[in-house]
Amino acid sequence: MAIKNTLSSYGFVSKNFHWIMAVIILFNFTLGYFMGDLDKGPLRFFIFNLHKSLGILIIILIILRLFWRLINLVPTPLSQSYLLNKLSKFVHYSFYFILLVVTFSGWTYSSARGGPINVFGLFSVPALVEKNEEIGKIARNIHANSVYVFITFVGIHILASLYHHYFLKDKTIKRMWFGSSD
Ligand code: HEM
Ligand code: HEM
Repeated sequence: MAIKNTLSSYGFVSKNFHWIMAVIILFNFTLGYFMGDLDKGPLRFFIFNLHKSLGILIIILIILRLFWRLINLVPTPLSQSYLLNKLSKFVHYSFYFILLVVTFSGWTYSSARGGPINVFGLFSVPALVEKNEEIGKIARNIHANSVYVFITFVGIHILASLYHHYFLKDKTIKRMWFGSSD
């Protein structure tokens, strides 16, 4: 399997970025969804810290992935429909944009409530803003709303790839999965 993308398939690095990030993001979504109900105590503290650390890791991965995308070819779309291809491009770009909104609003919320974040006990990232209840409220609203917009897009994205696989019977999923798509 090629390291870089070709016009007909994603390469090893893009495939890893895609699937490793998808797993981390969906796991972090689940943590975020349930962690608010946890009782105060060490478990709640641990899960909140894990959620924030994974969110910061996602920011780092987005930057690396965007850089990799910039120096790579993007495989040609397999659909013949101009409109669907435009829509697919729009959804793919939106993922990067909305993810940045989700992560930075989470970081701002956490900063406004509690200061710097200790990432996996390895290093700290500074607070983005001073402690401030008003900013905290706004950032929390943006975080909670943008993450549901994001997850709706993921739903559309998954349905679209299943449509390609089962109805159009093309290589869309195969060329993003590991191994050769030929
Ligand atoms: C992949 C990125 C992320 C995803 C998918 C995600 C997802 C979520 C979800 C689903 C919620 C619950 C929203 C609701 O109340 O309905 C949440 C809450 C929260 N997130 Fe994130 N988040 C991400 C990144 C971050 C980051 C980077 C931080 C901070 C550094 C963060 C901090 C928080 C905090 C503090 C809450 C509030 C929990 C509460 O008070 O109930 N999140 N997140
Ligand atoms: C959090 C979850 C996900 C995110 C953020 C995401 C994001 C993306 C992005 C940005 C691309 C464009 C290629 C790139 O820039 O690397 C892409 C392509 C793709 N994704 Fe996902 N994805 C997610 C989950 C999934 C899942 C669960 C599936 C499988 C059902 C899937 C199937 C695909 C396929 C088949 C492509 C290739 C599309 C093409 O060739 O045009 N993705 N994804």
